[in-house]
Amino acid sequence: MSALLDGKRLVLGTCYYPEHWPESLWKEDLERMLGAGIEVVRIAEFAWSKVEPTEGNFTYEFFDHFLDVAEEVGMKVIFCTPTATPPAWLTEKYPEALNANIDGVLFRHGARRHYNYNSPVYQKLSARITEKFAEHYAKRPCIIGWQLDNEINCEVSEFYSESDTAAFRVFLQEKYGTLDALNEAWGTAFWNQTYTDWQEIHVPRTTISNSTNPHEVLDYTRFISASARRFAKAQSDIIRRYTKPGDFVTTNGLFGNLDNHKMTEESLDFLMYDSYPNFAYCLDKYSDKPGDLKDRKWSRNLTEVRSVSPIFGIMEQQSGANGWNTRMEAPTPRPGQLTLWTMQSIAHGADYVSYFRWRTCTMGTEIYWHGILDYSGRENRRIREVREVHKKLQGMAEVAGAVYEAEVGILKDYDNVWDAQLDVWHQRVDSTSQKALFNAAQKTNTPIDFVYLTEDRTAESLKKYKVLFYPHATIMTEARALILKEYVVSGGTLVIGCRSGYKDITGKCVMNHLPGLLAELTGTDIPEYSFIAPDAGRVTVDWDGTELEASVFADLLEPVGDAKLCGTYTADYYAGSGALVCNAYGEGKAYYYGSAFNEESAKVFLEKLGVLAPYKDIVEVPESCEIAVRSKEGQRFLFVLNYDKNPAEIMLHTEGVNLYTQEKVSGVQKLEAYGTLVVKL
Ligand code: GAL
Repeated sequence: MSALLDGKRLVLGTCYYPEHWPESLWKEDLERMLGAGIEVVRIAEFAWSKVEPTEGNFTYEFFDHFLDVAEEVGMKVIFCTPTATPPAWLTEKYPEALNANIDGVLFRHGARRHYNYNSPVYQKLSARITEKFAEHYAKRPCIIGWQLDNEINCEVSEFYSESDTAAFRVFLQEKYGTLDALNEAWGTAFWNQTYTDWQEIHVPRTTISNSTNPHEVLDYTRFISASARRFAKAQSDIIRRYTKPGDFVTTNGLFGNLDNHKMTEESLDFLMYDSYPNFAYCLDKYSDKPGDLKDRKWSRNLTEVRSVSPIFGIMEQQSGANGWNTRMEAPTPRPGQLTLWTMQSIAHGADYVSYFRWRTCTMGTEIYWHGILDYSGRENRRIREVREVHKKLQGMAEVAGAVYEAEVGILKDYDNVWDAQLDVWHQRVDSTSQKALFNAAQKTNTPIDFVYLTEDRTAESLKKYKVLFYPHATIMTEARALILKEYVVSGGTLVIGCRSGYKDITGKCVMNHLPGLLAELTGTDIPEYSFIAPDAGRVTVDWDGTELEASVFADLLEPVGDAKLCGTYTADYYAGSGALVCNAYGEGKAYYYGSAFNEESAKVFLEKLGVLAPYKDIVEVPESCEIAVRSKEGQRFLFVLNYDKNPAEIMLHTEGVNLYTQEKVSGVQKLEAYGTLVVKL
């Protein structure tokens, strides 16, 4: 069994950079960590040159020595492959290993993640250093697991090098076989884009108005994802040849243009995430709009991570101010926020939390990205808070392995996520609804899961959700339509928003009556549709006497067969046209809502469908507090997180055990500013 995520306890770690500090500090640092309850360090992700200082010359002493110290003091280690930062000797000799911008200008040495996944020489040299690391270090008893690279697809998630063009052609040849098939899939008859030779095809390049063929861009995004996954898999396959039994392989982050689900399935034991909620307080990003969720928004990212690995780790958890010398000026987390953000991660399913970083770096771009300690390493408020977190975790071991509870799911799939990136019509409805559904759920304390319709998804696995929203499934496939039908037939409630089912898998529009493959399930026909005109004023929907405000778009609906019209638009030229159709289908119901969701309408749906605020009989909290429940084997653990700088009062309607103090609790409880409470129910 793995030393982390073993379902037995919650563990703390930190990120350490032996190459940034004199060796004379190592032992003292590791002992101080252990004293603060930190049991694991992650090392080496940017330290290629320490092992291969010049091409083909390998020297292992540096990390041998560090691992000796770790073993001497009893520190566990997550070791990384160092491929996020190729050495200067490599990029100088093999510039083809570099990534480029869309105009082909190479990203040069001096930052990080400047390589591309498809350069044959980089594939060879990164595989070799991975093998050397694994071959030499994996046997060390202190090593408990491996991180691949660092934050795959962070910084840039687009690749425009010559190697990428060459690999893109191969990807397309494998996918389409013939140019005729590719021309058909990409609709190249439009604007005379027909290809007559594979050599004519490139990764996207600068075009007039930046409007490269959308079907090509969709395939290009799939290609980037496939390239990144193959890169991860190559490393994982090598490492697994050398790991000791129980040692895990993971990577950190959750970045764009990457199918994180497939990557995890192919190459990892579980995913780790890097959680930096203090981004919300960066001076140029801060929003004081009423209702903005600020740091609480990171729960949305954590919901994404949970969709990949229900129990996960945080490889980098915010512990100090953000800051590069070039961007991201942010305040130091206030007293209590480090604990709040740690508990936010744990509430969503993290059984391992590792702080970024132990000491604040004295050199380089990240001199302001503060860790637990400042430059001097002197005792400070943040390390005292880490010690307090550790104390709290001692009483929370039972939480380990428990899974976040949710009765509501938001369906997603990568085809639509990526289509919404490149298609502004899709993007406008999708970003509005995604934000609204999440915010409405958060503010009403209605837990939700994101549920990806991956290739291996079965209708059976959807049955645990009372309600599923699939806000704007613009691209629809037969396979997905079938799963949705099976879910509804067996008793589920499905809510579909506007603009669904009008594209096929290539991103081309279908010629069927809309909503295409979803017409039968939803009992809906859409003879006409429009963006809500900028001068339309307030467009409302009357849903059996409840008023909703339509957002962004209006599909004008007609019920078909036994389906019922339950809502109509009340404004503009389509006043009286259908806005909401409900279709009883098998044991369940499918709703087609003709607009995008805003916070209010999302709330009305949650309420009318009977899934709003499922914990209201257990606990009442003000809007500043998030509630989460993790459960396992009949045991349930309630988390209450106060994101406000003012204290909050909550009311526990049931008696439970406060896991921080092991005392019984019930009735009115006071949470301090940024205070948290974990109760075994
Ligand atoms: C993460 C990255 C770390 C460090 C941190 C602060 O994205 O993995 O290496 O750069 O951000 O910028």
